[in-house]
Amino acid sequence: MNYPYQIKTFEEYQSAYKRSVEDPEGFWAEIAEHFVWRKKWDKVLEWNFTEPKVEWFKGAKLNITESLIDRHLATKGNDPAFIWEPNNPEDRTRVVTYNRLHKRVCQVAQMLKNNGVKKGDRVCIYMGMVPELAYAVLGCARIGAIHSVIFGGFSAQSIADRLEDAKAEFIITCDGAYRGAKDIPLKSVIDDALIGNKVVKRVIVFTRTRTPISMLKGRDVWWEDEMEHAEHQVEKDGIVSFPAEEMDAEDPLFILYTSGSTGKPKGVVHTCAGYMVYTNYTFINTFQYKPEDVHFCTADIGWITGHSYIVYGPLSAGATSLMFEGVPTWPDAGRFWSIVDKYKVNILYTAPTAIRSLMGFGLGPVHGHDLSSLTTLGTVGEPINEEAWHWYDEHIGKKKSPIVDTWWQTETGGILISNLAGVTPSKPTYATLPLPGVQPILVDENGKEIEGNNVSGNLCIKAPWPSILRTTYGDHERCRLNYFSTYENLYFTGDGALRDENGFYRITGRVDDVLNVSGHRIGTAEVENAINMHAGVVESAVVGYPHEVKGQGIYAYVIFNGRHNDEELTRKDILQTVTRIIGPIAKPDKIQFVSGLPKTRSGKIMRRILRKIAEGETQNLGDTTTLLDPAVVDEIKNGRI
Ligand code: PRX
Repeated sequence: MNYPYQIKTFEEYQSAYKRSVEDPEGFWAEIAEHFVWRKKWDKVLEWNFTEPKVEWFKGAKLNITESLIDRHLATKGNDPAFIWEPNNPEDRTRVVTYNRLHKRVCQVAQMLKNNGVKKGDRVCIYMGMVPELAYAVLGCARIGAIHSVIFGGFSAQSIADRLEDAKAEFIITCDGAYRGAKDIPLKSVIDDALIGNKVVKRVIVFTRTRTPISMLKGRDVWWEDEMEHAEHQVEKDGIVSFPAEEMDAEDPLFILYTSGSTGKPKGVVHTCAGYMVYTNYTFINTFQYKPEDVHFCTADIGWITGHSYIVYGPLSAGATSLMFEGVPTWPDAGRFWSIVDKYKVNILYTAPTAIRSLMGFGLGPVHGHDLSSLTTLGTVGEPINEEAWHWYDEHIGKKKSPIVDTWWQTETGGILISNLAGVTPSKPTYATLPLPGVQPILVDENGKEIEGNNVSGNLCIKAPWPSILRTTYGDHERCRLNYFSTYENLYFTGDGALRDENGFYRITGRVDDVLNVSGHRIGTAEVENAINMHAGVVESAVVGYPHEVKGQGIYAYVIFNGRHNDEELTRKDILQTVTRIIGPIAKPDKIQFVSGLPKTRSGKIMRRILRKIAEGETQNLGDTTTLLDPAVVDEIKNGRI
């Protein structure tokens, strides 16, 4: 497969960019020609950011799996679509060819159908990083069901909330998942999430860890049995088929929940056609994928990075995508490097937090592994600091592999700002230039555009690209309020950025109450709500602070009026509570007990002050005279952990 729209030079980038802004419809229509459509579109783009309403390739009919799988079968049927590396390096690895993937996806679609799943139904997927997770995602897409993947680190309560919000009737899970030295009991978490739930009709359970689990008659079925049955239905005389459901361009493809500045996670909705075209385009261009390259994205499919750059983007390009079940530091901190060596990985796409954590082990774990196959390195999820950037460049890329610093979000579906590997210039810690079709602008507090270079402001986007979110599930007004109402006629990202003398963007971090901990997005309000669930907690305030490995750590100030004869135990109880309500990823790194919080006379918590104290700044706290009780600030300063 060749990619006629792969940009090869800086000049080509400039002309593609110019065209994409001057004639977005013509630009994207040309790219869209390179996919499988049952019917072409009537109109390339219709939009307004006031409702908001965005429709790409309106009137077109397709099933995304035909562009991801079926079209490759004649030419690449025996080529690997996925390479799967298990958690334990001694276990059997798996290579899934496009032929095999086709068969498995048809089987899953048939299995879903047998279990009553129809087009438009929501299927919640809560699995570890096994190939069956990808089959489940694609099986949903094939039958037109809307998948909602939930990361394996979320608690039963989080799952229950998401199930309720999505009104999901079906779940696909595993008995358990391996992650490093741990076994995560996924099915038993699902069982807890389903206590009192009357909506879920069917839970399909894939066997991975052979952990003992309960299987409820009438509700729970085994994946293996169901797939075996489905196999007989989809395969006749050696020919495999399951007719793909015909979808509208704008039918929802999936929901993915993400945190915002309010308490409840939002179900970001992406639709079929635009998401397909944009993830493909950005995959091919950002990473400069070449046929036969092995692409290793280390993310979990529970996050958007895994959706777009393990599954959808790579498969639509007929690529080989490496899927890894484990963690970077188990059985030792050379795990990534041994995988790169073993499979001759060409593209490695990971998070700054992983790089920083591996840096901490020194060069010992890197030595002895042949990394010469690498041609492109990528980072995503949070700002990368200079030191980590240079370490990655020097010791992993050996200064010959360009690093792409890709900035994007769950809501954007695909990469919006990044250099293109080896094609456009890179600059440490800068995401640099927008992809074609993306028009970033910086605005001040009042929404006034900040023009020129060497400036900073709030990052917005002026016009839609094909994979912009369409709505938040079940609550369109929330989508409008969150992203399209802060500044008129703009999509507001929630990030701050600066633009240097070359017009390169550097993302400086969130300007709202959202934390980025180890590349995971967590709302401060969400963590506060969880802490406040603890019986002895009166009130709490959560802020971020710089953390060497995680990027940001979670600092919680807590007013506690329970029995308090053992502070350490109370801290552990609170951590346990947060783990129950959200999951271990939201556990505060530090908990400081306080007698009051700095509040204005109108009762608003002055987070600015709390943030400064958490960061270690105790002198220049700004104006504290408007506080209801200024003395509380001294107490908090003195008690800082
Ligand atoms: O703050 C930005 C940060 O991650 C946020 C989006 O998080 P999420 O929706 O979980 O998606 C992460 C993976 C795409 C953004 O608002 N972020 C993401 N990439 C970068 C980044 N910050 C700096 N540089 C990046 N390359």
